[in-house]
Amino acid sequence: MLANRHKLFFAAGIAGIALLVACNKENSTVTPTPAPTPTPIDAVSAVLNLPATPFNYANVVLPGYLAGPNIIGQINTPGTNQVTDNGATLGRVLFYDKNLSLNNTISCASCHKQASGFSDPVVKSTGFNGGLTGRNSMTIIDAAYYPNGRFFWDQRASTLEEQTLMPIQDLVEMGMTLPALETKLKALAYYPILFQRAFGDSTITSNRISLALSQFVRSVISYRSKYDSGRAALPNAPAPPPNAPYPNFTAQENRGKEVFLTPNLGGCAACHGSETFTAPQEKNNGLDAVTTDRGFGAVTNNVNMDGEFKVTTLRNVELTAPYMHDGRFATLEQVVEHYSSGVRNHPNLSPQLRLPNGLPRQANLSAADKAALVAFLKTLTDRTIATDVRYSNPFK
Ligand code: HEC
Ligand code: HEC
Repeated sequence: MLANRHKLFFAAGIAGIALLVACNKENSTVTPTPAPTPTPIDAVSAVLNLPATPFNYANVVLPGYLAGPNIIGQINTPGTNQVTDNGATLGRVLFYDKNLSLNNTISCASCHKQASGFSDPVVKSTGFNGGLTGRNSMTIIDAAYYPNGRFFWDQRASTLEEQTLMPIQDLVEMGMTLPALETKLKALAYYPILFQRAFGDSTITSNRISLALSQFVRSVISYRSKYDSGRAALPNAPAPPPNAPYPNFTAQENRGKEVFLTPNLGGCAACHGSETFTAPQEKNNGLDAVTTDRGFGAVTNNVNMDGEFKVTTLRNVELTAPYMHDGRFATLEQVVEHYSSGVRNHPNLSPQLRLPNGLPRQANLSAADKAALVAFLKTLTDRTIATDVRYSNPFK
C-alpha cells in the first residue's frame, strides 16, 4: 500500500515535469513539423471501429451436432468464396454502409436489423425513396445452410453471390447501378485498404463486393440458443428421439419439442428439419387455396410450382415477426394455428402437409400443445446473435 502510494507520487512528479517541458516547447519558436499524410489505416479508423486483428468468422468451432455430415451437406458456400476473416470484415462494413444506396439513406442493415434476428419487424420494408418492398424481409441467419443454394422467398437468386448485388440495384430498395456503386466506393478512403486485406489488392469491383457481402452473410450462424445448450447434453449422433427430454428445458418446452418432431403431432420437422430447421428445397405450406403470389412458379414459369416458397430456418424465429413471405401472421401463435387448423388445399400443397387421402393435414393440436409448440420455438432464440459485436454496425 505504502509502496504504491510512493509510486503514485513519483508518477505525479514525472507528469509535472513532462507538463513543464511541454509548456516550454510551446513558447519556443521552433517551426512545427507538418502533419504526416494520413496512412490508409487512419482512413479506416477515422470512420470505423474495427479490431486490430480481425474477428474470427472463418473458424468458428460449432457443436458436434452442427458439424456432422448431414449439416455439412446443407452448406451452399462455393469453393471460390470461402469465408475469410478479412473478407467477412469487409462484408460487414458494406452491409452497414448507407453509401450502397443512391441517396445514402439505406444500408442492408436498415431492413436486416441485428436486434430483429436480421429481419425487419414490419410487414414490408421501406426503401431508399420511401417505396415499400414486395415481400417481408427475411432473416440472413443460417443462410449458409440451404442445400439448393437459392435465395429470396421465391428463390429467384440461384446463388447468394448473385443475391447480394440485387438489393443494391433494386429500384425500391437501394436504387444504384453497379458502375455507380464502384465509382462511389472508390472515392471512400476506407475501402481500398479493406479490399486489399480481403483480396490481396485494392481493386474495387462489384464482383468483389458481392463476394465479401456473401461471406459476411454466411458467417452469421446460430449455435448458442437454449435449444443448443439442451441438445449439447445429449449424444451428437444418432439424433435423440423426439421425446428425449433436454435437461435445461421446462416440461412445456420438452413437450413442444416432441410436438414439433413427431410426425403425427405437429409434424413440423418434416420440412423444418435437422438442427438448422430447414428443408432441402422450397415447399407449399398451404397458406392459400388459390395462388396469390406465384413464388417459385413465376421464377421457373411452371404452374406446378406456384405458391412454393423457400423454407427459412426457424432459428431465432421469435425475433423475426411478422411471418411468411407476405408477413401475414403477426405472432407465432397465429403461425401454429395455421398448421393446426388452417392449411389450405392448394393444388401444389406439399405432401408433408397432406393426409394419405390427399386432403390437407390439420395438426388439430390441443390448446396446451399449441402453447408448448410456441414455447419450444422460443428455445431456438440465440440472443448472442443480437448482441455479437462481430455482426454489429462497425461505423463510428
Ligand atoms: C429495403 C429493404 C431491404 C434492403 C435495403 C435489403 N434487403 Fe435483403 N431482403 C429484403 C426483403 C424484403 C427480402 C425478401 C424479398 C423477396 O423474397 O422477394 C430480402 C431478402 C434477402 C436475402 C435472402 C435470404 C434468404 O434466405 O433467401 C438476403 C441474403 C438479403 N436480403 C441480403 C441483403 C443484403 C446483403 C443487402 C444489402 C446489399 C440487403 N439484403 C438489402 C429487404 C431488404
Ligand atoms: C410442407 C412443409 C412444411 C411443414 C410441414 C411446416 N412448414 Fe413451416 N414453413 C414452410 C414454408 C414453405 C414456409 C414459408 C412459407 C411462405 O412464406 O410462403 C414456412 C414458414 C414457417 C414459419 C415462418 C418463418 C418466417 O421466417 O416467416 C414458421 C414460424 C413455421 N413455418 C413454423 C412451422 C411449424 C411450427 C410447423 C409445424 C406445426 C411447420 N412450420 C410445418 C413449410 C413447412
